[in-house]
Amino acid sequence: MILPLFFISCLLLSSSSSSHAAVQDFCVGDLTAPQGPAGYSCKNPSTVTVNDFVYSALGIAGNTSNLIKAAVTPAFAAQFPGVNGLGISSARIDLAPGGVVPFHTHPGGSEILIVLQGTISAGFVSSANTVYFKTLKVADIMVFPQGLLHFQVNAGNTVAQAYVSFSSSSPGLQILDYALFGNNLPTELIAATTFLDSAQIKKLKAVLGGTG
Ligand SMILES: *[C@@H]1O[C@H](CO)[C@@H](O)[C@H](O)[C@H]1NC(C)=O
Repeated sequence: MILPLFFISCLLLSSSSSSHAAVQDFCVGDLTAPQGPAGYSCKNPSTVTVNDFVYSALGIAGNTSNLIKAAVTPAFAAQFPGVNGLGISSARIDLAPGGVVPFHTHPGGSEILIVLQGTISAGFVSSANTVYFKTLKVADIMVFPQGLLHFQVNAGNTVAQAYVSFSSSSPGLQILDYALFGNNLPTELIAATTFLDSAQIKKLKAVLGGTG
């Protein structure tokens, strides 16, 4: 009888001594505040409503009338403040026939993709430059480890659709072609750092909105 009581009081003592920090149920992002490494600062909980935890924009197909014939509709903390601080987020991918999400990375999180419609060829390249790619059908899921370059291409003649989830509420998105050719980095420096010839670089700059 004495021993169990001793353990219970120890448990109570240790839990009370380690609970100085208030447990926070959530930290709905205050989108008017700047975002730091830990995300947005928290909105005053008294102003939080259920609508902070619900986001309906992923029910609408993205506009694929563009160069890549694809649309990525994010539900990151910046669009869906309820995920702020929770280390999760989501997005919808629409791919018209011929559509492609070009090589890109999410510096902040891993990604898991589920195909809802059509067929999608998807893959990533490891740090050892090994390529892992496969054509996915409806209900297949594929995971893309954090930070690695990856792509998704519509592999069929019909519209393809996928949903993706991330292990970050702000995973970030850096598209390789735009990073290389969609800015004002001088052509000579791109040529020197990529071994591509200048004519090809200038052509891609013209298509992707780069200058110089
Ligand atoms: C889709 O984007 C194109 C190109 O920007 C635009 O012309 C078109 O109006 C958009 N369609 C819809 C339904 O928003």
